[in-house]
Amino acid sequence: MLRARITGVGSYAPPHIVTNDDLEEMMNTSDEWIRQRTGIERRHWADDDISTSDLALEASLRAIENAGIDKESIELIIFATLSPDHNFPGSACFLQTKLGLEGIAALDIRQQCTGFVYAMSIADQYIRTGMYKTILVVGAEVHSKGLDKTPRGRDLGVLFGDGAGAAVVEACEVTDPANDSYVLSSHLHADGRYAQMLWTKVPGMANGPHWLDVESIEKGEYFPQMDGRRVYIHAVKKMPESVREAVEFNGLTVEDIDLFLFHQANLRIIESVGEALNAPPEKVFNTIQEYANTTAATLPIELDEALRAGVLKKGMLVVLSAFGSGFTWGSVLLRW
Ligand code: COA
Repeated sequence: MLRARITGVGSYAPPHIVTNDDLEEMMNTSDEWIRQRTGIERRHWADDDISTSDLALEASLRAIENAGIDKESIELIIFATLSPDHNFPGSACFLQTKLGLEGIAALDIRQQCTGFVYAMSIADQYIRTGMYKTILVVGAEVHSKGLDKTPRGRDLGVLFGDGAGAAVVEACEVTDPANDSYVLSSHLHADGRYAQMLWTKVPGMANGPHWLDVESIEKGEYFPQMDGRRVYIHAVKKMPESVREAVEFNGLTVEDIDLFLFHQANLRIIESVGEALNAPPEKVFNTIQEYANTTAATLPIELDEALRAGVLKKGMLVVLSAFGSGFTWGSVLLRW
């Protein structure tokens, strides 16, 4: 059977590291508050002349090298981000040109923290139908330029960081489904009733006569807003559900999973999700301490870091699970 396999991963974070102490004065916060509530120790911020597609380019080149493919074999770029280079066109077009791949298909998706899960699912479907054989899936974010970096924005400002991760996804013929390396399944969900629990209100066409006006700028409505408590409650419920859905669909149990890669928003969320699933902590790989929440880039960064740390090994059953703005959530189950 024709299925998708990840044949290469890569990640990149801008070199400028911002510690919790660096934010103390800027946002009237403290290292202690951030560590206790979130587990975050530092994050990376892009320089002024760097944008999302620049980070994506570095991650993509690393993934292409890791896959050992000729970049010309890529037929489609799927770019997941909530922090695009421009309002339109999509960042996949800018990345495509930077990669020198003019003419191939370029698709942006906006599923926030669940972006990589949705993007992998789309890649999987294109490969199963035979439409494409080689797809570059990228998640990248520059949050630092979009955050309110004053005490007013501290609830969100401390949580996010910049970074990019990419995966080369190729078609493969699966002859031994119980042992071959491939994407077994993906499951996607959303509940738009909670859209305003984590969103950026403006700019946008729902903003009355003008998609951006001085009044909304003065009110700071172009900064993201969040009901943190509500996000927390839903995340710790929906992520375990998404893992159970994935294992049950494949006739497996949670105990069969060798490695859990959860979206990295908050260490307390990850620990609660792990406990709800009875997942031993040594099977859960975390990157939040170093990168904070990099939204759509989080899971591909995790894949790359786990691989380079020797934690992700051939033959392992791996579940990726995410929850984020929308609300959106879902899972990808694969054998590495
Ligand atoms: N530094 C210091 N104090 C802060 C702060 C910061 N960065 N941000 C908020 N506070 C203060 C608030 O002003 C409030 O003070 P008050 O009690 O005097 O009014 C208090 O801390 C808030 O405390 P509390 O609401 O109990 O925090 P919490 O334990 O709920 O943690 C979050 C807050 C945001 C860490 C938590 O709700 C969370 O992680 N939610 C999920 C967020 C998330 O993951 N979003 C992305 C999902 S993809």
